[in-house]
Amino acid sequence: MDRELADAAATGQLGAVLARTVPWSAPQALGVYLHGELGAGKTTLVRGLLRELGVTGTVRSPSYTLLESYDCHGHVVLHVDLYRLAGGGDVASLGLRDEALPGVLLLIEWPERANDSLPHADLHARLSIHGESRAVHLESASAAGKAWLAAAAADAAYKK
Ligand SMILES: Nc1ncnc2c1ncn2[C@@H]1O[C@H](COP(=O)(O)OP(=O)(O)O)[C@@H](O)[C@H]1O
Ligand SMILES: [Mg+2]
Repeated sequence: MDRELADAAATGQLGAVLARTVPWSAPQALGVYLHGELGAGKTTLVRGLLRELGVTGTVRSPSYTLLESYDCHGHVVLHVDLYRLAGGGDVASLGLRDEALPGVLLLIEWPERANDSLPHADLHARLSIHGESRAVHLESASAAGKAWLAAAAADAAYKK
């Protein structure tokens, strides 16, 4: 699925649509890989998603901490940014594999920086800069991801 994101609010709105349609009952942790250059809107999409899940405090970009964790009404959301990953791309020290339990959602910016294996992706969001606005290509990578995209496409806000 491809769509234009006219402004930052539209990017956040897409995050909210994805939040409303997360297939939480999937038997494994869910993963979204966020691709795109610096400034493409990856963190903006995550903020919209977390807000919709009821996170009210500051949503910091995990540029330096690499990982921020949120408790969302019984669900855990891990927001990861591997841009500054040191040590030759070793993500094992982040412990993501141990955290990736059913009911957990991982949102991973710069997944291509990891040299060892990351928890799997159900969805890929590929963001790109188009002048003053952005575009996104969404792609599923699992059965759960396919169901997720179908539900997202049926969301009233997605069709706007
Ligand atoms: N659809 C959009 N159109 C215009 N600006 C956007 C859009 N989405 C996000 N932005 C802006 O782009 C800037 C960088 O966004 P950010 O989410 O931090 O990017 P990334 O995490 O990919 O580096 C922010 O100022 C944000 O408000
Ligand atoms: Mg970012």
